[in-house]
Amino acid sequence: MVREIIIYPDKRLKEISKEVHSFGEDICQLLDDMYDTMIAKNGVGLAAIQVGAPLRALIINVPIEETKGAAEQPRENTLEIINPVVLSKSGSTFYQEGCLSVPGIYEDVERFEYVKIAYFDRFGNQHTMEDDAFLAIAIQHEMDHLDGKVFVEKFSYIKRKKFEKEWKKRLAAL
Ligand code: CO
Repeated sequence: MVREIIIYPDKRLKEISKEVHSFGEDICQLLDDMYDTMIAKNGVGLAAIQVGAPLRALIINVPIEETKGAAEQPRENTLEIINPVVLSKSGSTFYQEGCLSVPGIYEDVERFEYVKIAYFDRFGNQHTMEDDAFLAIAIQHEMDHLDGKVFVEKFSYIKRKKFEKEWKKRLAAL
């Protein structure tokens, strides 16, 4: 089921999400709904707080390029990451990010180039994962949401001022 996405600067996006302690039907339903919502909005990642659930859960689905040219995001390719903890991080890179809570805004922000995380899946099994490419960026972006941070906070002072001005205008026009 597609849920409503919370749009910046809604205060709920500032909430620190809580750890998931029970791996039952509720978390499965939430993750399934998050996938439906992310796909409906053409996203590649989503944190639970973005649909109003203050839980440390996020999903990422890196599109695969099909031969016909259309990007596909099959449900089974979805990475479901619960209670993630960074084990190590290094390097630095800039990547143009976007966010379903700040639709239409794309901006380069700085991230670690490499991250290794430990996390749980929906069944409560623990895993580790590491990446030094797109997935590493996406993990950091979504993990920020769990700590109440949105990527616009990483903009330079000038870019942030410009963004806030434009964003106010856009929200007023809705
Ligand atoms: Co986001």
